[in-house]
Amino acid sequence: MIEILPSILEPTIERVHEKIQMLEGLVTTAHIDVMDGVFVPSKTDFLPGDLVHLDTSLALELHLMVAEPEKVAANWGRDSHVSRVLVHAEAVHDIDTIADKIHAMNKQVGVVVNIGTSLSALGEVIPHSQAVQFMGIHRVGFGGEHFEESILPVIRELRRASRVLISVDGGINAKTAQMCVKVGATRLVVGSYLFNASSKKEMRTRIDTLERLDQEKEQ
Ligand code: DX5
Ligand code: ZN
Repeated sequence: MIEILPSILEPTIERVHEKIQMLEGLVTTAHIDVMDGVFVPSKTDFLPGDLVHLDTSLALELHLMVAEPEKVAANWGRDSHVSRVLVHAEAVHDIDTIADKIHAMNKQVGVVVNIGTSLSALGEVIPHSQAVQFMGIHRVGFGGEHFEESILPVIRELRRASRVLISVDGGINAKTAQMCVKVGATRLVVGSYLFNASSKKEMRTRIDTLERLDQEKEQ
């Protein structure tokens, strides 16, 4: 089954909380976007310590779009809700140190690659991580962007070379999700396609449909 991680890209912890509440009972993990205004132009206004205020049963995957993950990744990983911390390959200089600290907290590390970043940049970081996340969009740090099909052959290339878990973030809808699953992604991060659903029932239907995509592929 494909794992669906609803993506929450909101400036304040209050808004993050509102969206998380909508997801209770629908998924087990939510993906929270964190931006520093440096690595990407957009910026979130909450701090690691604010996560404690989230009243939720969901686990959190934190997508750190920050310039110096070595300085902040462990702080973000500390909150008990957090199960996984994602850092960008383009920003990381010392994955060992980040991975050691996050793994010492019994949490997972994932590496994110932007469009255009060569897979060869992953050689050193994959052994330290449990997942690779491909960005499906050019304008990282923003929701509702157009999916770039040019990443599909790159995903396929990594799938053939490695058994690492592959996720895709950005521009995912029913059509692009199918394309990603076909080339080997098993985890999809989905923002506007889920939150634009007209009701919780419709959101559940969309999640169910995406989760079943691999089964459809095998038929
Ligand atoms: C963008 C974020 C994504 C974003 C996805 O850089 O990392 O997680 O929220 O939103 P959609 O699904 O609308 O592209
Ligand atoms: Zn994200």
